[in-house]
Amino acid sequence: MSAPNKSYDPVEVEALKPAEIERMRDEAVAAFAAAGDLEALAHAKTAHAGGTSPLSLANREIGALPPQAKAEAGKRVGQARGAVNKALAARQVELEAERDTRVLVEEAVDVTLPYDRVPAGARHPLTTLMERIADIFTAMGYAVADGPEVEAEWYNFDALNFVPDHPARQMQDTFFVQGPDGTSGDESGVVLRTHTSPVQARAMLDREPPVYVICPGRVYRTDELDATHTPVFHQVELLAVDEGLTMADLKGTLDHMVQELFGGEGMKTRLRPNFFPFTEPSAEMDMVCYVCRGESVGNPDRPCRTCGSEGWIELGGCGMVNPKVLVACGVDPEKYSGFAFGFGIERMLMFRHNVEDMRDMVEGDVRFTRPFGMEI
Ligand code: DAH
Repeated sequence: MSAPNKSYDPVEVEALKPAEIERMRDEAVAAFAAAGDLEALAHAKTAHAGGTSPLSLANREIGALPPQAKAEAGKRVGQARGAVNKALAARQVELEAERDTRVLVEEAVDVTLPYDRVPAGARHPLTTLMERIADIFTAMGYAVADGPEVEAEWYNFDALNFVPDHPARQMQDTFFVQGPDGTSGDESGVVLRTHTSPVQARAMLDREPPVYVICPGRVYRTDELDATHTPVFHQVELLAVDEGLTMADLKGTLDHMVQELFGGEGMKTRLRPNFFPFTEPSAEMDMVCYVCRGESVGNPDRPCRTCGSEGWIELGGCGMVNPKVLVACGVDPEKYSGFAFGFGIERMLMFRHNVEDMRDMVEGDVRFTRPFGMEI
């Protein structure tokens, strides 16, 4: 700022000359008019209406004028600044309106466009079927149990009464992960579990009887992937241990399950003698064909493709828990008895939904999963 001017001589202060003020004003107004968008206007505002703009600097010079000159110069600068601010505000309004119109056009949403270009995912039918089966049993008070897929050989075989040289250790097409560790004296190697039955042993060791558990899970066998085999598949295992359980309880439980799963009249199961080391007696369980409900049997007029007119569909294995297994798992066989069953989910999905090729279940093609619905 210049030093106070004793004698009135506005000419001395170049920036306050009327022509100069007008030039500043006109330059500012022209710059605003030339600003093509709000960003350019913001720059023009800093340059022509900001604290260091020529008009602001000129304004500061007023203080240095002699008192008589202050009023006149102040008025001139004030008017010019007023005009500049007005031009700025007007251009601001214009440019904002332009921007709003453009945004409306550019960012318009066509609500008639199809909304489902990215389809929602679906859960795999194997998962939903397993959950459905688990639901049937949790509704009856069973707990869902699980165990590791990389399992100690002891749980997968020994605890279940497969003696060490039992042929099933090979026959179950086992993936051996690690042999027994000879140095630590640990006789149990590590396998990928070949069935969900080791969870029976884990459940009994983890809990005090009564034990009522259902265990859906993934299991592994050294099979090639083809239309009817897959090296990774799923089973559901059930175990009940309580006082006084009999084969009749097993049968009633199985009947209830197939009625809940397949619905309606006439659904029931039958048991055929079989052998499993961990059950005694053991049985193979069949269920009535849910399509013909047995009516195709001996009835050539009504053949049934689902059961081959046999009237029954094989489900899986079951039996009364072998007392040796109870003992191995710390349960007193004098006081408690138990029943168990286990079956494959892929197989059930195949006959329940006429899936002909198991590979479809593992390939992850949405054209396979979509018809099962988007059930979450
Ligand atoms: N774990 C047997 C398998 O994979 C199936 C099975 C049979 C499970 C009898 C059971 C049972 O619980 O009692 O072949």
